[in-house]
Amino acid sequence: MVVESAASSPPLPRLHALPQHVAIIMDGNGRWAQSRGLSRSDGHRAGAQAIRPVIERLGEHGVGVLTLFGLSTENLSRPRAEVQAILRLGSEFIDRHLQELDDAGVQLRHLGDRNQLPRPLRNKVEQAVARTAENDRMVVNLAVSYGGRADIVHAVRRLIEDGVRPEAVTEEAIACRLATDGLPEPDLLIRAGGERRISNFLVWQAAYAEYYFTETLWPDFGAAEVDEALGEYSRRQRRFGLVPSKQDRSDEALSGDAEPRT
Ligand code: FPP
Repeated sequence: MVVESAASSPPLPRLHALPQHVAIIMDGNGRWAQSRGLSRSDGHRAGAQAIRPVIERLGEHGVGVLTLFGLSTENLSRPRAEVQAILRLGSEFIDRHLQELDDAGVQLRHLGDRNQLPRPLRNKVEQAVARTAENDRMVVNLAVSYGGRADIVHAVRRLIEDGVRPEAVTEEAIACRLATDGLPEPDLLIRAGGERRISNFLVWQAAYAEYYFTETLWPDFGAAEVDEALGEYSRRQRRFGLVPSKQDRSDEALSGDAEPRT
């Protein structure tokens, strides 16, 4: 895997704004499988295969952080066989791609409650995280057994354990105790599969993310869809609750796009 522009890749579209951190909800595996008369596990397998080209394309664009929602705390209550199939795919993903991710300078991290993972997978994840810890070309967070609210609860428990006084509880004091400590907040949150909700993913961190919802089912999501999502992001105006800057206003006047946005 290369995370820089590869000769064989389609040319990169020119974008005037690029997200630093992209987060993806990989939804639609079940429907993809159902429409082909396959099992849900087959759908998740196809979903796992879609991950590598997406990492590669985002790397070519120069996106520094990618967070993938592999399994939520709520998903753990799905039928045991399905949960086991997804966890097995997570394990196979590491077996299959760790070497090339490491060679490409990708740092793998895990977000979520490792205690919920079977011991062999937990060990594998910890080894992969340790092995790639010094890599600095791109960070890929695998959110497995992750829930956004649980992340906040965990941070609050740590605040209390650390003896932080009430007046010292700030947004920063919470943010640095979340699983994403040290990383930029997601600028772009993509959800495949047609639903329009965030399903307890990065609920704190995505407060000012741009949302991109696509009907494309996750197994069909590839480099072209990455380009499309980043293109849409680059056309959005991010104001973080502020008024448009002078520059934005003159850009709008030039483009004829003068609709007020928040
Ligand atoms: C949502 O699709 C997808 C998941 C709950 C699992 C995502 C898992 C993978 C892509 C496999 C790779 C796993 C790891 C851990 C790297 P859905 O089943 O809810 O689809 P549906 O809405 O069509 O039923």
